[in-house]
Amino acid sequence: MAATFTWDRLRLFSCLAVISMAKAQNPDQFIYTNGFRDANLQLDGSAEIRSNGLLQLTTTSRLLTAHAFYPSPINFNTSSSSAPSLSFSTNFVFAMVPQSEEASGHGVAFVISQSTDFSDADAVQYLGLVNESTNGNPSNHFIAVEFDTIFSLGTDTIDGNHVGIDLNGVISNQSIASAYFSNEEGKNISLDLKNGLPIQVWIDYDGQQQLLNVTLAPENSPKPNQPLLSASIDLSDILMATMYVGFSAATGSIESCSQYIMGWSFNRSGQAQSLEMSQLPKLPKNGGGRNTVRLISIIAAVLLLLIIIGAAYAYWRKKYEEVLEDWEKEYGPHRFSYKTLYIATKGFKDKQLLGSGGFGKVYKGTLPYTNEQIAVKKVSHESSQGMKEFVSEIVSMGRLRHKNLVRLLGYCRRKKELLLIYELMENGSLDKFLFSDDKPTLNWFQRFQIIRGVATALLYLHEEGEQVVLHRDIKASNVLLDSELNGRLGDFGLARLYDRDSDPQTTRLVGTLGYMDPELTRTGRATKAADVFALGAFLLEVACGRKPFAPHGPPEEISLVDLVERCFKRGAIVDAVDPRLQGNYVVKEMERVLKLGLLCSNTEPDLRPTIKEVVQYLEGNVSLPDIPIDSRSQKIPSSILETFGRSIEINTSMTNSIASDSVVSLSSLLGNGLSLNSLSSADSVLRIGN
Ligand SMILES: *[C@@H]1O[C@H](CO)[C@@H](O)[C@H](O)[C@H]1NC(C)=O
Ligand SMILES: *[C@@H]1O[C@H](CO)[C@@H](O)[C@H](O)[C@H]1NC(C)=O
Ligand SMILES: *[C@@H]1O[C@H](CO)[C@@H](O)[C@H](O)[C@H]1NC(C)=O
Ligand SMILES: *[C@@H]1O[C@H](CO)[C@@H](O)[C@H](O)[C@H]1NC(C)=O
Ligand SMILES: *[C@@H]1O[C@H](CO)[C@@H](O)[C@H](O)[C@H]1NC(C)=O
Ligand SMILES: *[C@@H]1O[C@H](CO)[C@@H](O)[C@H](O)[C@H]1NC(C)=O
Repeated sequence: MAATFTWDRLRLFSCLAVISMAKAQNPDQFIYTNGFRDANLQLDGSAEIRSNGLLQLTTTSRLLTAHAFYPSPINFNTSSSSAPSLSFSTNFVFAMVPQSEEASGHGVAFVISQSTDFSDADAVQYLGLVNESTNGNPSNHFIAVEFDTIFSLGTDTIDGNHVGIDLNGVISNQSIASAYFSNEEGKNISLDLKNGLPIQVWIDYDGQQQLLNVTLAPENSPKPNQPLLSASIDLSDILMATMYVGFSAATGSIESCSQYIMGWSFNRSGQAQSLEMSQLPKLPKNGGGRNTVRLISIIAAVLLLLIIIGAAYAYWRKKYEEVLEDWEKEYGPHRFSYKTLYIATKGFKDKQLLGSGGFGKVYKGTLPYTNEQIAVKKVSHESSQGMKEFVSEIVSMGRLRHKNLVRLLGYCRRKKELLLIYELMENGSLDKFLFSDDKPTLNWFQRFQIIRGVATALLYLHEEGEQVVLHRDIKASNVLLDSELNGRLGDFGLARLYDRDSDPQTTRLVGTLGYMDPELTRTGRATKAADVFALGAFLLEVACGRKPFAPHGPPEEISLVDLVERCFKRGAIVDAVDPRLQGNYVVKEMERVLKLGLLCSNTEPDLRPTIKEVVQYLEGNVSLPDIPIDSRSQKIPSSILETFGRSIEINTSMTNSIASDSVVSLSSLLGNGLSLNSLSSADSVLRIGN
């Protein structure tokens, strides 16, 4: 009665396809298609039921054994009416998920055993069934169908991916390389046991014919028409009246597989029902399996790709990033995009570098589309304070037009960087011609032409523009030569940037030693007269071919203006002329230039000529006034040092740093013998640029 009832229930459940567990009351058949949660299996070793009902025999840890048996024994008593033969049928799905591509087993076995006590059995090649001394012992009374993933010397006869039938031990009575017969293709296809995917197994034993069939198939394949293994085996000596059915598994001594049983049916009274793959508990998505490894690699690859794309985008953004504020809109035409400049200068390559000075590096470039040649000056600036005013000034300077001014085409702003775009002057700066041997010597006609050009440019800045523009850094290196060797004044007004971003408490002096009005160092106020002073130094350097300040020379030649003055006092001012001219110059013009240079170098600003007068003198329309002898009682270096309230000797290391073309900061002066206490005005900072 009870049996019939259960039987009906079983059929009902199987129709509904929700059966997860057979009844313990009917021990000769059962099915687990929905996990083993309620199965009450006899577990030992590493075996456990996961929360989704999946039977996990082993993890990937080393040297594990595991067993899982159906809780009650199965009747194999052939004398009893309910079990007339030894026939049985089982169907299960297992999966071996390796830790890594190369890792494996040791393997899983389906076992019918007299006992469920395998406490003395070993892992590795003994599959958790026997140990070395009990291997093959007839009293073991078990039959195992092994799914072995490792070739073990001594127990195996074939490769590391095989199916074998083991009787009382792990030395296979029959074994064969893992494969399945594809009904569709009509051929055997080899099957990797540890591919991480579910594998279906059917084991059918015909007690009459004494034929044991083992059939394998990958998931979602129907049962193959041909078994992988069809072995003629007499199990009567092995199978006792009651036997336990279940699984045994072991891991190896190195990295290994996680081994799972996903579903299982067993039948003594007929063909075991096939399992519904879709209902079986799923394999874990994480946990070091190959599947997972594959998935993780795919995810990692996708992430990596995203990161690369993101980084490339961020890099691209960063590369061309610029600062553009609302107020800049009106300057649209003067505003260059950083990308344009980047392309124009080939990414600000060193090869494009024209030079670098106190205000920053200058790069040569070619604007895309128009092919216009430009020079891009990169000026670093710390704060955006006063930037608006500065940019508006820059833009207004862009409106200045004079044939002897280098045209400012526009600007671009980035974080901590201001870029100024000028028209390119093919011949570079004048100082290269005057002081280096790389360029040809300019003749007097050319030099005089340059001097007049620069003077008229300064006249334009001081008197003829809409507003007064002080240059504040006139010197040979700021005079550029165009293709016809006309002198063009560059960098005008740039000094103001340093006014803007400095602390209002401090005054920064911008200028270059030797060109700097002593008055300027005292008051810190830029004036037209200070520009004229610098122009005077410039006139002398062009005529004499020397720098206004030559710290390495003999003491009497350190200051050019002193040297010229001495020659003048001797009544032989032309002795100071650049020897490279080899005497080829117009004496009148030369004398005028040298004397004008001295006049402009007067320490008393009021006694210097205005730029208008300078131009008139140069043109020769007006004759020069007398040069007051002894007007220059103070020498330039000492007058600067006097500002600091103290006169010291210029030692070599100090003059080295002053003479270098880079911006000399106060600290380097301090480091060379001047202490902060010695400053007459503690707040003033001397900043000396080239
Ligand atoms: C097998 O079944 C027969 C008949 O039911 C019974 O007499 C016999 O004791 C059983 N054998 C074992 C070993 O249980
Ligand atoms: C093997 O197992 C038997 C009993 O199952 C036990 O007596 C024996 O000590 C074991 N031998 C080893 C080497 O573990
Ligand atoms: C396989 O088992 C049978 C008994 O069923 C035995 O006669 C035969 O020798 C065994 N073969 C091997 C290779 O162990
Ligand atoms: C498939 O393999 C089995 C076992 O090795 C063999 O008996 C059978 O002939 C093979 N079938 C084909 C179509 O090769
Ligand atoms: C075992 O396989 C053979 C060969 O395919 C077949 O003839 C036999 O019916 C099968 N036996 C069982 C019990 O499935
Ligand atoms: C066992 O076999 C019988 C006869 O074929 C069948 O009706 C029953 O559904 C099977 N039970 C299981 C659990 O496979």
